[in-house]
Amino acid sequence: DWTPKAMVEELIEDVRATVGGDRAICALSGGVDSMVAAALVQRAIGDQLTCVFVDHGLLREGEAEQVREDFVELTGADLVVVDATERYLTELAGVSDPEQKRKIIGAQFIRIFEQTARDIVQDRGDNQHPVKWLVQGTLYPDVVESGGGTGTANIKSHHNVGGLPDDIQFQLVEPLRLLFKDEVRQVGLELGLPEKIVYRQPFPGPGLGIRIVGEVTAERLEILRAADKIAREELTAAGLDREIWQCPVVLLADVRSVGVQGDGRTYGHPIVLRPVSSEDAMTADWTRLPYDVLARISGRITNEVPEVNRVALDVTSKPPGTIEWE
Ligand code: XMP
Repeated sequence: DWTPKAMVEELIEDVRATVGGDRAICALSGGVDSMVAAALVQRAIGDQLTCVFVDHGLLREGEAEQVREDFVELTGADLVVVDATERYLTELAGVSDPEQKRKIIGAQFIRIFEQTARDIVQDRGDNQHPVKWLVQGTLYPDVVESGGGTGTANIKSHHNVGGLPDDIQFQLVEPLRLLFKDEVRQVGLELGLPEKIVYRQPFPGPGLGIRIVGEVTAERLEILRAADKIAREELTAAGLDREIWQCPVVLLADVRSVGVQGDGRTYGHPIVLRPVSSEDAMTADWTRLPYDVLARISGRITNEVPEVNRVALDVTSKPPGTIEWE
């Protein structure tokens, strides 16, 4: 029967059998899934695994630091951090289409991993054991929604599934691909990861890149990061983190509306709050946040982020809306 302990043991055995004596690398995105996958694989194959954290510049405030502090210090995993912000901004310049963004972001990930894999082998002077495996924290809903499951149309090419380039040089290890989020959390706890990591809200691999509706630029990322930080602070202060599945904060970068501040006219951008409640992200309902919490978030964002003059609340369930706007 499926106790977390039995589940973990079986998953570890599977990984060992699959990977054998080869080297693997794991993409850490800062999200729960990749951290649990990494911890699991590390438990299975130890220092045959190297974790790679690509800072693509599409991260929320404090994200990169948190991966270093919380995950690496705890697990002792071998970590390589790649700063790829400039590269991503260049590749994403002029691109507004959501699927194109995902493909670009996914393709860059893989190119960076390939380079990193070559560097690892070179650093170790061990040509006998190239990096053969790429570990991904793909969950069952990701598989289904990217069209890899049975009977469901392709909704979005989640970059860790459908968005990978065809000429990828790695074989994939996806130890969580049959699990739902709540099971992944149990596995994480069983592996000894702290609740701080295990109960993190989901955050998409393509990051803020798919929360800017329109072209992604450094300036727009700054605006969104500031607004997102405020929303997260207030939701945490109100004790709502566990109640909410996640709350994407979205910048409608190509929309402007007229506002008034002091005695001047403003012409700024709207921010959309998208708090959702869900069991597995396959379906979701919009969370009925208390009005006073919404008021504090709205007040602070419009006061503290000068480019934003309006805050809107998304009251759409999934379906028909998806959780992310892109
Ligand atoms: P949607 O927007 O499809 O989101 O309702 C369902 C869940 O998946 C996350 N999400 C992603 N995760 N790469 C990821 O790793 C992606 O491209 C991606 N798109 C959406 C989303 O945050 C939600 O938890």
